[in-house]
Amino acid sequence: MATVAVAPGCPIDEGFDPLSADFLADPHAVLAKLPAAERPIFFAPSIGYYVLTRYADIEQVFRGTGSYSAAVAQAPLVPLVPQAQQILLAGGHRPQPSMVSLDEPAHARLRKPAARAFSAKRVNAMIPAITATTSRLLDAVAGQAEFDLVAVLAFPLPATIVFSLMGVPERDHAQLKAWCGYRAALSWGRPSPHDQIEIATSIAAYRRYLRDLVDAKGRQPGDDLTSDLLAIHGEDPGRLSLDEISSILFSLSFAGHETTTGLIGNTARRLLEEPGCWAKVAERPDLIPAAIEETLRYDPSVPVWRRITTRPVTLSGVNLPQGAKLFLWLAAAGRDPSVFAQPDQFDLDRAGADRHLAFGLGLHYCLGANLGKLETRLAVEELARRYPRLRLADGQQLSFHPNISFRGPQELRVRTSRHEEPPAS
Ligand code: HEM
Repeated sequence: MATVAVAPGCPIDEGFDPLSADFLADPHAVLAKLPAAERPIFFAPSIGYYVLTRYADIEQVFRGTGSYSAAVAQAPLVPLVPQAQQILLAGGHRPQPSMVSLDEPAHARLRKPAARAFSAKRVNAMIPAITATTSRLLDAVAGQAEFDLVAVLAFPLPATIVFSLMGVPERDHAQLKAWCGYRAALSWGRPSPHDQIEIATSIAAYRRYLRDLVDAKGRQPGDDLTSDLLAIHGEDPGRLSLDEISSILFSLSFAGHETTTGLIGNTARRLLEEPGCWAKVAERPDLIPAAIEETLRYDPSVPVWRRITTRPVTLSGVNLPQGAKLFLWLAAAGRDPSVFAQPDQFDLDRAGADRHLAFGLGLHYCLGANLGKLETRLAVEELARRYPRLRLADGQQLSFHPNISFRGPQELRVRTSRHEEPPAS
């Protein structure tokens, strides 16, 4: 438990723990049961953070770069054991590892070239690869009465796409996927010392691989994002170093993977759970983009992001000191009744669902939002085309990886209707 002086007048919720089994199973149920006094802000001793639930406050924090720093965005929730720290440092994983946790001007130094290389043209050029990969992955289960949508599609698709985008040779994809495993636990969970060392070892190996990839692309450029970044380096090596290119690749591949696995899983789950929704999008695939926005509001795959105050601020009437750590509950903002009418209803026809804060806002706004949505759209379109009568397998209890920021079902078993039809006589 953290021992910090809590801002005067701020409610304290001793029982709130975003890594508890109840919370992981259904965070929205925990939100719904919060005492009125704890909305919009309370302190959670279990993690040492102030929890913000209101859309307007979270929006203000994202936009207020002068008063808030992103430095804690990836900070381990629990201190890492020294051995894990050493492994990470030896592998080139510095305490300020990537663009998402840097403030200006260091952030812009990485963000500008990354945004230039990660252009709309490069994203759109991925469409044939996304379509082909989706088909190949679904062909592998063709004819099966039941399969796990996460293992079959939601996990491998974004990994394959982000690695292809970076120019990683296909023969290395399986190794990279294995290293990437449960990286989220290190900064966003409470891993045991043994698990910390294991994850740190994988992250260090992955970092070294990316640095070697940068060198290899330097010798032999290809049509990929790494080569685009190297071209920027070639224009002015002082502007972007080879280590920085490797750091950008780490950011992109981390941010472009579990986030999208979660979005595909959550979108499919919600469409299959809500009566009539799957049939509706199967008939009208043009509704799928709206379904994705509604899922990002209703059940976002990044439900929490973090900031720390750099000067005293007042949020919802509470005076917070400098150094206050903020748990921006993006999923709660998506259920804020002052912004979304009947927020607890999943509504395919909702106007303005895209006001959600699921991709953040302002200077750090998600660089891969369009790619993540594109992958999800093409995946759901193909699923609905192949299986217009898909349904959730009975009797499954969904489970979620124990971390605060990346959320999607770990397994989603679905039944295809094909094998339930009476055999032709
Ligand atoms: C599809 C689901 C995704 C969700 C819900 C999501 C969510 C987020 C969030 C909440 C942030 C932090 C924004 C902030 O601090 O204001 C972020 C940043 C970022 N995302 Fe995503 N993301 C997704 C997909 C992707 C993909 C596919 C990529 C790239 C391939 C990506 C790359 C990034 C990068 C590089 C940043 C850091 C940007 C910066 O610090 O300037 N994301 N994302």
